[in-house]
Amino acid sequence: MKIGIIGAGTVGSVLARSMAMSGHEVYIANSRDPGTLSGVFSEFETVHPVWKDDLKSVSEILVLAVRWKDTGKVLEELGDMGGRILIDVTNNVDESFDLIDLGGKPSSMVIQELVPSARVVKAFNTFKISRYLDDRGKGIISFLAGDDGQALETVSNLVTSMGFIPYITGSLSFGGRLMNVKGRLAGKARSKDEADSIVREEAAKET
Ligand SMILES: NC(=O)c1ccc[n+]([C@@H]2O[C@H](COP(=O)([O-])OP(=O)(O)OC[C@H]3O[C@@H](n4cnc5c(N)ncnc54)[C@H](OP(=O)(O)O)[C@@H]3O)[C@@H](O)[C@H]2O)c1
Repeated sequence: MKIGIIGAGTVGSVLARSMAMSGHEVYIANSRDPGTLSGVFSEFETVHPVWKDDLKSVSEILVLAVRWKDTGKVLEELGDMGGRILIDVTNNVDESFDLIDLGGKPSSMVIQELVPSARVVKAFNTFKISRYLDDRGKGIISFLAGDDGQALETVSNLVTSMGFIPYITGSLSFGGRLMNVKGRLAGKARSKDEADSIVREEAAKET
C-alpha cells in the first residue's frame, strides 16, 4: 500500500517505521522542507520524506498525525480528498494533555465534518504509539471506528499487516466515542473479551 503520513513527530515516525517494516511504501511530511527529515528514516528504503503538498498525489491512504491544535489548518491545506481514506490518529488534548472540549462530539466526527471529501477511519490512538514498533505480532487488539465499510476493511488489512488484530468498534459516533480520550476503550490495550463486553454494555445503553 502507498501510505502518506501528515506529521513526522512521535506518532508519525513510529507509524512510518511500523508500516515500512510491514512492506508498505510510506511518504511522510512535516510542516517544513523534507530536507529536515533527511537521514531520520535512512534505515528504511521505503520511507520517503516529501513536501506535505505532494502527499496526496503519491499516496492511496493518508494518516493524520498532528497535534489537535493543528488539525484545522492541516485539513484546510489538504483540500479535496476525492474519497480517499484518512486515518485519524489525533486525540483532542492540549499541550498539557488536558481534554479539549468538543461539545461532547467524538473528535473523529469533528475531523470528518472538516473534511467531508475523505472517508475517515479512527485508528492507532488508544494506547502508547511505541507499541506499534515494540509489540508487533503479540496478539494485541487495535481498535478502529468509521462510517465506511470498505474503508474499515482496508484499514483492518493494514493493521493486520502491522502485526496487530483489528477490532471494529462501530461508527465514528458510537465507536469513536469509546475510543476517544477518556472513552472506555482508550488508555490501554484490551483483550477481545473485555472489548466485547464494553461494546455490548455501551450498545445496550443506546437502545
Ligand atoms: N504520543 C502518543 O503516544 C500518541 C498516541 C496516540 C495518539 N496521539 C496523537 O497523535 C497526534 C500527534 O502526536 P505527536 O506526539 O506525534 O505530536 P508531535 O511529536 O508534536 O508531532 C506533530 C507533527 O505534526 C507536524 N505538523 C504540524 N503542523 C503541520 C502542518 N501544517 N503540516 C504538516 N505537518 C504539520 C509537525 O511538524 P513540524 O515538526 O514541522 O512542526 C510534527 O512533525 C496528536 O494528536 C496526539 O494526541 C499520540
